[in-house]
Amino acid sequence: MGKLKNRKLMKLIGLVCACTLLLVGYKESYIMEPVEMGGMVSVAHRGASGYAPENTHAAFRKGLELGADFLELDLHLSKDGELVIIHDDKVDRTTNGNGFVSDYTLAELKNLDAGSKFHKNFKDERIITLDELFSDFYGQIGLLIEIKKPSKYPGIEEKVAAVLENYSDLSSVIVQSFDIESMRKMHQLVPDLQVALLMKRSASQLSSKKIEDLSSFATFINFNISHVNKHIIDQIHSFGGKVLVWSAKDVRSINKAYQYGVDGIITDFSIWPLEDEIFIAKE
Ligand code: G3P
Ligand code: CA
Repeated sequence: MGKLKNRKLMKLIGLVCACTLLLVGYKESYIMEPVEMGGMVSVAHRGASGYAPENTHAAFRKGLELGADFLELDLHLSKDGELVIIHDDKVDRTTNGNGFVSDYTLAELKNLDAGSKFHKNFKDERIITLDELFSDFYGQIGLLIEIKKPSKYPGIEEKVAAVLENYSDLSSVIVQSFDIESMRKMHQLVPDLQVALLMKRSASQLSSKKIEDLSSFATFINFNISHVNKHIIDQIHSFGGKVLVWSAKDVRSINKAYQYGVDGIITDFSIWPLEDEIFIAKE
């Protein structure tokens, strides 16, 4: 009886190991064999946040290494007015601290561990500033900068514009926000800059008039992949606009976006499906 149990257990362990190997191989093959997908750009969401702690140097390095076209990142202001890269307005979820980002000075934020919550191997990751990101990545990869809650940080657009002033070629830089008026202002401050609008679910049925107004200053109108439809993408394209969708986490949603004809995909994994998978989905 004991031997039978042991054999069953060994079989089960063997099966789990085989499945794990298959899964690892599967994931790896995505990374190793990307296909050209009709010019769609790949955006590493909060860096390659599927592989490293979001919005950290490690995640941005990984996005670059995986061949993403852009790094996406989120901005807040510290207590002493520095542009810092973090998604939430509180530090609790991604660091070992607690409370609002805006209650910490930059020096205090730098003392926090921004990596261990993802994995202990990343314990040395720190919150970085927009200046630091530009110093390390500008020119090597595009930057898609999201201003979070601009109404909480009056003057944040001017601060972003001041950083951008140091760089003459902004063709690979995009600034985006859910706050339409903030992006209108960003466009006025830096007319050469491409701005993007992040749309809430309710916007999946925008009127032509609204799209025309938004397209007058925004290069991109971006949607959550679950809230978008082909009609709205076609409409935006007809006004000369472009569409990025976030955040694709699997082949099925990447395929959906591909078939809708979006201009780019914001993904945690910076992976493209294999050619035959695209072909299968197209049939
Ligand atoms: O880039 C779009 C996407 O980042 C917006 O959602 O919550 O990930 O910032 P969130
Ligand atoms: Ca974001």
